[in-house]
Amino acid sequence: MQPEQPTVFQRIGPEPISFLAMALYRGIAGDARIRGMFSDDLSPTSEAVRDMREFLTQFFGGPGDYSVRKGHPRLRARHMRFTITPAARDAWLGHALAALAETERRHQLDPATVAEMRRYFEHASAFMINQVDDQSSDASTAESGR
Ligand code: HEM
Repeated sequence: MQPEQPTVFQRIGPEPISFLAMALYRGIAGDARIRGMFSDDLSPTSEAVRDMREFLTQFFGGPGDYSVRKGHPRLRARHMRFTITPAARDAWLGHALAALAETERRHQLDPATVAEMRRYFEHASAFMINQVDDQSSDASTAESGR
Protein backbone atom coordinates (compact mmCIF):
# COMPACT_ATOMS: atom_id res chain seq x y z
CA MET A 1 0.00 0.00 0.00
CA GLN A 2 1.08 3.57 -0.74
CA PRO A 3 1.69 5.65 2.40
CA GLU A 4 -0.86 8.49 2.77
CA GLN A 5 0.35 11.68 1.07
CA PRO A 6 0.19 14.74 3.31
CA THR A 7 -2.41 17.24 2.08
CA VAL A 8 -1.43 20.53 0.47
CA PHE A 9 -2.48 22.28 3.70
CA GLN A 10 -0.28 19.98 5.79
CA ARG A 11 2.66 20.76 3.51
CA ILE A 12 2.32 24.54 3.26
CA GLY A 13 0.14 25.73 6.17
CA PRO A 14 -2.37 28.59 6.22
CA GLU A 15 -0.31 31.64 5.13
CA PRO A 16 0.26 30.78 1.46
CA ILE A 17 -3.44 30.02 0.97
CA SER A 18 -4.40 33.33 2.54
CA PHE A 19 -1.83 35.13 0.38
CA LEU A 20 -3.17 33.40 -2.73
CA ALA A 21 -6.79 34.39 -2.01
CA MET A 22 -5.76 38.04 -1.58
CA ALA A 23 -3.59 38.02 -4.73
CA LEU A 24 -6.39 36.41 -6.77
CA TYR A 25 -8.92 39.09 -5.86
CA ARG A 26 -6.34 41.87 -6.29
CA GLY A 27 -5.93 40.67 -9.88
CA ILE A 28 -9.67 40.37 -10.49
CA ALA A 29 -10.25 43.85 -9.00
CA GLY A 30 -8.14 45.33 -11.81
CA ASP A 31 -9.69 43.37 -14.68
CA ALA A 32 -12.51 45.21 -16.50
CA ARG A 33 -13.49 41.99 -18.35
CA ILE A 34 -14.92 40.36 -15.19
CA ARG A 35 -14.77 43.00 -12.42
CA GLY A 36 -18.50 43.75 -12.68
CA MET A 37 -19.48 40.22 -11.60
CA PHE A 38 -17.83 40.61 -8.20
CA SER A 39 -18.60 42.55 -5.01
CA ASP A 40 -17.40 46.13 -4.72
CA ASP A 41 -15.05 45.24 -1.88
CA LEU A 42 -12.34 42.77 -2.91
CA SER A 43 -9.80 44.04 -0.37
CA PRO A 44 -7.83 41.66 1.90
CA THR A 45 -10.45 42.00 4.66
CA SER A 46 -13.46 41.52 2.36
CA GLU A 47 -16.08 38.80 2.60
CA ALA A 48 -15.06 37.61 -0.90
CA VAL A 49 -11.46 37.03 0.18
CA ARG A 50 -12.61 35.35 3.38
CA ASP A 51 -14.90 32.98 1.45
CA MET A 52 -12.09 32.07 -0.94
CA ARG A 53 -9.49 31.65 1.82
CA GLU A 54 -11.75 29.43 3.92
CA PHE A 55 -12.89 27.40 0.91
CA LEU A 56 -9.36 26.75 -0.39
CA THR A 57 -8.09 25.98 3.12
CA GLN A 58 -10.82 23.38 3.53
CA PHE A 59 -10.49 21.98 0.01
CA PHE A 60 -6.73 21.51 0.36
CA GLY A 61 -7.07 19.60 3.64
CA GLY A 62 -7.15 22.29 6.35
CA PRO A 63 -9.83 23.21 8.90
CA GLY A 64 -13.44 23.13 7.68
CA ASP A 65 -14.39 26.71 8.61
CA TYR A 66 -16.02 27.29 5.24
CA SER A 67 -18.61 24.55 5.70
CA VAL A 68 -19.15 25.36 9.38
CA ARG A 69 -20.15 28.88 8.28
CA LYS A 70 -21.81 28.21 4.92
CA GLY A 71 -22.64 24.51 4.58
CA HIS A 72 -21.65 22.20 1.73
CA PRO A 73 -19.62 24.16 -0.87
CA ARG A 74 -21.75 23.08 -3.91
CA LEU A 75 -19.48 25.39 -5.88
CA ARG A 76 -21.05 24.93 -9.30
CA ALA A 77 -24.51 25.65 -7.89
CA ARG A 78 -23.22 28.71 -6.03
CA HIS A 79 -21.82 30.03 -9.33
CA MET A 80 -25.04 29.56 -11.32
CA ARG A 81 -26.23 33.09 -10.52
CA PHE A 82 -23.26 34.41 -12.53
CA THR A 83 -22.87 34.13 -16.30
CA ILE A 84 -19.62 32.23 -16.67
CA THR A 85 -18.58 31.94 -20.31
CA PRO A 86 -15.35 30.28 -21.49
CA ALA A 87 -13.89 33.79 -21.87
CA ALA A 88 -14.80 34.73 -18.27
CA ARG A 89 -13.31 31.43 -17.09
CA ASP A 90 -10.08 32.11 -19.00
CA ALA A 91 -9.85 35.57 -17.42
CA TRP A 92 -10.48 34.15 -13.93
CA LEU A 93 -7.99 31.33 -14.45
CA GLY A 94 -5.34 33.80 -15.61
CA HIS A 95 -5.64 35.58 -12.25
CA ALA A 96 -5.65 32.31 -10.30
CA LEU A 97 -2.46 31.14 -12.03
CA ALA A 98 -0.79 34.55 -11.62
CA ALA A 99 -1.73 34.50 -7.92
CA LEU A 100 -0.34 30.97 -7.64
CA ALA A 101 2.95 32.01 -9.28
CA GLU A 102 3.22 34.98 -6.91
CA THR A 103 2.50 32.69 -3.95
CA GLU A 104 5.08 30.18 -5.17
CA ARG A 105 7.78 32.87 -5.20
CA ARG A 106 6.78 34.50 -1.92
CA HIS A 107 6.37 31.28 0.05
CA GLN A 108 8.84 29.08 -1.82
CA LEU A 109 6.31 26.38 -2.57
CA ASP A 110 7.63 23.07 -3.89
CA PRO A 111 6.93 22.25 -7.56
CA ALA A 112 4.70 19.23 -6.82
CA THR A 113 2.42 21.33 -4.61
CA VAL A 114 2.23 24.09 -7.21
CA ALA A 115 1.39 21.53 -9.91
CA GLU A 116 -1.37 20.03 -7.76
CA MET A 117 -2.90 23.45 -7.09
CA ARG A 118 -2.58 24.47 -10.75
CA ARG A 119 -4.40 21.30 -11.89
CA TYR A 120 -7.20 21.99 -9.46
CA PHE A 121 -7.68 25.59 -10.65
CA GLU A 122 -7.66 24.50 -14.30
CA HIS A 123 -10.20 21.71 -13.85
CA ALA A 124 -12.51 23.36 -11.34
CA SER A 125 -12.67 26.64 -13.27
CA ALA A 126 -13.68 24.76 -16.46
CA PHE A 127 -16.39 23.00 -14.44
CA MET A 128 -17.79 26.43 -13.46
CA ILE A 129 -18.60 27.40 -17.09
CA ASN A 130 -22.38 27.64 -17.38
CA GLN A 131 -22.88 29.55 -20.61
CA VAL A 132 -21.18 29.34 -24.01
CA ASP A 133 -19.66 32.41 -25.64
CA ASP A 134 -21.51 34.41 -28.26
CA GLN A 135 -21.02 32.42 -31.54
CA SER A 136 -19.71 35.51 -33.34
CA SER A 137 -16.55 35.36 -31.26
CA ASP A 138 -16.17 31.57 -31.28
CA ALA A 139 -15.36 29.83 -34.55
CA SER A 140 -15.82 26.38 -32.99
CA THR A 141 -19.58 26.89 -32.75
CA ALA A 142 -19.89 27.91 -36.42
CA GLU A 143 -21.38 25.46 -38.96
CA SER A 144 -19.00 22.55 -38.98
CA GLY A 145 -20.83 20.40 -41.54
CA ARG A 146 -21.07 17.52 -39.05
C1 HEM B 1 -11.24 26.84 -9.26
C2 HEM B 1 -12.33 27.54 -9.61
C3 HEM B 1 -13.14 28.35 -8.63
C4 HEM B 1 -13.24 28.26 -7.28
C5 HEM B 1 -12.56 27.25 -6.35
C6 HEM B 1 -14.13 29.30 -6.85
C7 HEM B 1 -14.49 29.52 -5.53
C8 HEM B 1 -15.39 30.46 -5.12
C9 HEM B 1 -15.89 30.58 -3.77
C10 HEM B 1 -15.53 29.65 -2.62
C11 HEM B 1 -16.76 31.60 -3.75
C12 HEM B 1 -17.62 32.06 -2.56
C13 HEM B 1 -18.95 31.34 -2.71
C14 HEM B 1 -19.87 31.53 -1.53
O1 HEM B 1 -19.50 31.08 -0.42
O2 HEM B 1 -20.95 32.09 -1.71
C15 HEM B 1 -16.78 32.18 -5.08
C16 HEM B 1 -17.50 33.30 -5.45
C17 HEM B 1 -17.50 33.83 -6.72
N1 HEM B 1 -16.93 33.29 -7.84
FE1 HEM B 1 -15.78 31.66 -7.89
N2 HEM B 1 -14.54 30.02 -7.93
C18 HEM B 1 -13.97 29.48 -9.05
C19 HEM B 1 -14.13 29.89 -10.34
C20 HEM B 1 -14.83 31.02 -10.74
C21 HEM B 1 -14.92 31.50 -12.09
C22 HEM B 1 -14.28 30.82 -13.31
C23 HEM B 1 -15.66 32.63 -12.05
C24 HEM B 1 -16.05 33.50 -13.22
C25 HEM B 1 -15.32 34.46 -13.66
C26 HEM B 1 -16.04 32.86 -10.67
C27 HEM B 1 -16.81 33.91 -10.21
C28 HEM B 1 -17.19 34.11 -8.90
C29 HEM B 1 -17.96 35.26 -8.44
C30 HEM B 1 -18.46 36.41 -9.30
C31 HEM B 1 -18.14 35.09 -7.06
C32 HEM B 1 -18.81 36.06 -6.08
C33 HEM B 1 -17.67 36.78 -5.35
C34 HEM B 1 -18.12 37.91 -4.46
O3 HEM B 1 -18.52 37.65 -3.33
O4 HEM B 1 -18.04 39.06 -4.91
N3 HEM B 1 -15.50 31.86 -9.90
N4 HEM B 1 -15.95 31.46 -5.89
